Amino acid sequence: MRTRGPRKGATSKKPVKETASGASKIGGVLRIGGASCVELADCYGTPLYVTDEGRIRENYRRIWHAFANRWRNLRVYYAVKANANLSVLSILRQEGAGADCSGVEEARLAMMAGFRPDDILLTASYINATDLKTALALGVRVNLDDASALDHITGEGIPAFISMRINPGVGRGHHAGVVTAGRDSKFGMDETAAVDAYEKAKALGIRDFGIHMMAGSGSLDADYFGEITKKLLGIADEISTRVGIEFSFVDLGGGFGIPHRNGERPLDINRAATLITDEMKASFGSSDRAPVLAIEPGRYIVGDSTILLARVRSVKRGVKTFVGIDAGMNTFVRPALYGAYHEILLANRGEKDMETVSVCGTICENTDLMAKDVLLPKMEPGDLVAILNAGAYGFSMSSQYNTNPRPAEALVLDGTHQLTRERETLSDVIGRQHVPPRLTRQAN
Ligand code: LLP
Repeated sequence: MRTRGPRKGATSKKPVKETASGASKIGGVLRIGGASCVELADCYGTPLYVTDEGRIRENYRRIWHAFANRWRNLRVYYAVKANANLSVLSILRQEGAGADCSGVEEARLAMMAGFRPDDILLTASYINATDLKTALALGVRVNLDDASALDHITGEGIPAFISMRINPGVGRGHHAGVVTAGRDSKFGMDETAAVDAYEKAKALGIRDFGIHMMAGSGSLDADYFGEITKKLLGIADEISTRVGIEFSFVDLGGGFGIPHRNGERPLDINRAATLITDEMKASFGSSDRAPVLAIEPGRYIVGDSTILLARVRSVKRGVKTFVGIDAGMNTFVRPALYGAYHEILLANRGEKDMETVSVCGTICENTDLMAKDVLLPKMEPGDLVAILNAGAYGFSMSSQYNTNPRPAEALVLDGTHQLTRERETLSDVIGRQHVPPRLTRQAN
């Protein structure tokens, strides 16, 4: 395994910025990555995810440097589930990232984007024998969620390295649904189960060990990352003593949040890295023999790289005002699923008159809201809106609900743009269905 930083000269030589997304208005028209949103919408249609390549690289470099300045053996595995667009993966592969994958298909996708198997981590939940064997045959590193998976590993298939996902008992997230540790979490194993798991792995002949956690997603509190690391390292120490093994790999997962509201303070990533690496030094010292420190950021890298462009279809002014746009919970589910706040901007013109509105999509559900009771410039049909911070868990959680083809994705860099994913059509929605012939006869 190599330790790599951002590739030198890989891209634009823009200074690394500490502030939020680069989208800005010029003459009333919103621009992202130097490209006009009006032009992008005209060119590719709406709804459209637009990703700023430069911003992904800045974010990656910022988090890389925060940790690499403090810990020599660092690996940053980008969490592919946040945004699995092949161009996004290729950007991060160029930057020197590894890929954290939630399943074998994601690992295959990462390989298509050029990631080498030993730069891929597989952190699957409730993996089956076939997938585990496939992963090991591909040569990717595996974090096991449950000791019973070890029963699937035999003979030739025994890997040199294995890591266990620990449930450290506490976690934090922007919403209860994304806290992935604690009593109600389906993920990982507690200390007792982990001791059994490592003993079992040792008995199989495995000699190289890692330890992993992913306790929650979207925290802006640097101190929390120090606390949770201390918790994991305490468990690691206990396991080392009881099982008689050493860890070559300590993986803290992702969870690094980004601000969503105006005035919300960004996560102090340097402070988080300092607190985390101080805990690592307290446990392992800082010699060359100290373990690799791994992190798996998703949202931090791609969250603010992307906007979702949508067209206003109609504005219903009654007891309340509803602005109906062509992107709904099928396109972007975070507001409906977590009540997540995403700032919305009028993207095609300036407008001084403001009104309180709810912004909704076209789906037949009353949870199909992008924003509830927010003050926005007065809009009319045909206007263009941009939903900010849509790069993480945006397209990757989109669906075809109400028979809606999934949207297109475009990539911008220094004013130039390309389509990276075509808009789906009805035939993509019909997909692989087969209707038995007896059902195709017309009734008399
Ligand atoms: N590593 C593992 C094993 C994970 O399960 C996750 C996310 C990550 C890393 C990356 O976490 P991040 O750095 O992005 O917080 N759909 C939710 C987020 C679910 C997170 C699931 N696991 C949302 O839209 O907020």
